[in-house]
Amino acid sequence: MNTLDRQKDMLNIINDEILTYLRKYAGKEMYKPMEYSLKAGGKRFRPMIMLLMCEALSGKYEDAMPFAVAMECIHTYSLIHDDLPSMDNDDLRRGMPTCHIKFNEATAVLAGDGLLNIAFEIMLDKLKNNFEKRYLDAIYCIAIASGTNGMIKGQALDIDAEGKNISEDELFDIYENKTGKLILASIKCGAIIGGASIEQLKIIEDIAYKLGIAFQIQDDILDIEGNQQEIGKPLNSDLKNNKSTYVSIYGMEKSKNDYKELSSKVLENLRNLHLDNKDIYHYIKKLINRTN
Ligand code: IPE
Ligand code: IPE
Ligand code: MG
Ligand code: MG
Ligand code: MG
Repeated sequence: MNTLDRQKDMLNIINDEILTYLRKYAGKEMYKPMEYSLKAGGKRFRPMIMLLMCEALSGKYEDAMPFAVAMECIHTYSLIHDDLPSMDNDDLRRGMPTCHIKFNEATAVLAGDGLLNIAFEIMLDKLKNNFEKRYLDAIYCIAIASGTNGMIKGQALDIDAEGKNISEDELFDIYENKTGKLILASIKCGAIIGGASIEQLKIIEDIAYKLGIAFQIQDDILDIEGNQQEIGKPLNSDLKNNKSTYVSIYGMEKSKNDYKELSSKVLENLRNLHLDNKDIYHYIKKLINRTN
């Protein structure tokens, strides 16, 4: 199978698995809003990089699947809460009305809570049935990344920085946490389950850090210059909320240049891993030119 077919194949597998796990784990009262937000679409970037990294290290992607599904549940919960009126107050997500618009605010809060909890039920079930240290390490990695020293911290800092002048260090702190930590955990869990060495993990962590920052810079660029149909969310949300972003601080030209530079460093470091299976390299290379 060529690399593009493999990517499409993997994406279809992920989408099927998400629904299979949801059917198994979601209680009937909360099934609909959780399914709605998960099914609305999304690139599935985090599960993709987790599974492709696991395969790149000669691991079996099936071993990482519960963690990949859990990660997409956590990411989707973060988006549902991010869109709430008390946060970014957006009404469009993944090309559909946001969860609180489609249902109501209380349902959106609970759907987010539900997705977070289900993520841990899925991962702990895997550990319960296969008591291996690599699975315990993966759960720990995801717990830390999504918590108050990870994504939640970043979201808190992001809200706090609205309408303020912040330093470069503060901006990087926000990006590393609100976006970078889940991306780091995704790629790292793939590596842990795939059997990476300590040296490989160090390089992978550096790649993930740069990838996370670059991913958020591109998100900020697309918030202004993207096509609403393609990005599936409202344009100029950051401006509306007086957000401190890479673009608002450094301007569009520098943002684009720095994005390119960071992205090429990510690719260079990925090449330095000398992986036999290059699917993850080609996937990230393609993603760098993303328009959604
Ligand atoms: C959007 O993430 C939120 C950020 C962290 C920038 P994605 O761009 O991965 O959103 P989906 O999953 O494709 O909808
Ligand atoms: C949010 O960043 C990152 C999350 C943890 C959800 P943004 O607020 O810029 O994400 P979008 O643009 O709404 O997807
Ligand atoms: Mg936000
Ligand atoms: Mg937002
Ligand atoms: Mg954004």
